[in-house]
Amino acid sequence: MKIIGTGSAMPSLAVTNEMLSEILDTSDEWITTRTGIKQRRILSEDTLTALAVSASQRALESAGLIAQDLDYIVCSNVVNNFVTPSLSCILQGEIGAGCPSIDLNAACTGFIYALDIAESFIKTGRAENILVICAEQPSRMVNWKERNTCVLFGDGAAAVIVSKGDAFKGFHITTQSKIEPLYYQRKLEFNPYVSQADGDAPLIMNGKDVFKLAVSSSVSDIRNVLEKSKTTADDIKYFLLHQANIRIIESVRDFTKQPDEKFPHNIEKYGNTSSASIPILLDELHKANKLEKGDLLVFSAFGAGFTTGACVLEWTI
Ligand code: ACO
Repeated sequence: MKIIGTGSAMPSLAVTNEMLSEILDTSDEWITTRTGIKQRRILSEDTLTALAVSASQRALESAGLIAQDLDYIVCSNVVNNFVTPSLSCILQGEIGAGCPSIDLNAACTGFIYALDIAESFIKTGRAENILVICAEQPSRMVNWKERNTCVLFGDGAAAVIVSKGDAFKGFHITTQSKIEPLYYQRKLEFNPYVSQADGDAPLIMNGKDVFKLAVSSSVSDIRNVLEKSKTTADDIKYFLLHQANIRIIESVRDFTKQPDEKFPHNIEKYGNTSSASIPILLDELHKANKLEKGDLLVFSAFGAGFTTGACVLEWTI
């Protein structure tokens, strides 16, 4: 499998730390030093579907394909307006594709899980061109009065088109069933007068536990995929890590003993956009001409579940 196109779309509303400190007992100084985040984009007038459509169309354009060329759509998403049908079904119609589509929820690891599934379809010859799209709206899951969590997240969407090739050198994905550190639970009682979204309980997170799990899993997943692909950290041009906290990225960087410039980040602009964070960063690097043919990249992510995943790939565009 290889990546042949990338695209992303972000909400127009930027919410800065200063804006949050007007409604919460927080400060730009606290958020910046603890997380690296300066602002995040939040869906207000735009919709998640519209973002997903724009990101997908941009990825198709970048790949030189049209929606009818797609053989499958894999959409990584945690929450959207509908429980059913899936966001991928809605997206399939909006972009004018005619192929099957599924949603996948592996939380912030969704991009790597989706790529892993796409690779199986491509390897077995069941599909030639697949749209892998991550569209996330974590701003719906947090309680905006809860400073421990709401300052961390932002909304966004990004996509890649994958096709036949041998650019992906190794995958490693894991699940440890561990609910307590991070979850978002639907209320069990059914109340027809309360919309499901209003009735949902907000995201619960034990930040310190998630931090430790994130660093240890990312370090071990990266080691695993480097070994599988017979490469060393020195051979890698960029490590694209899930953008959850700049201190998590710095800790993983220290373990790999690699220079700072190999760990690009945009968390300062977008916060944690769940599974969309790696493809948003990838699209930015691609559009800024920072990726050259033959560059080796590592993707590494972790999220609620607890799910983790990493892969090594060669850039071929
Ligand atoms: N503004 C000001 N003070 C705050 C804020 C805030 N926004 N949030 C928490 N605090 C306070 C706490 O109440 C606490 O106060 P206390 O000492 O009086 O009790 C103090 O700051 C320190 O809190 P800690 O929890 O010790 O802060 P920590 O250094 O652990 O940073 C953080 C918290 C940023 C959440 C960190 O633990 C973290 O990033 N964890 C990982 C989170 C993460 O990555 N989540 C998502 C990953 S998975 C996925 O993406 C789905």
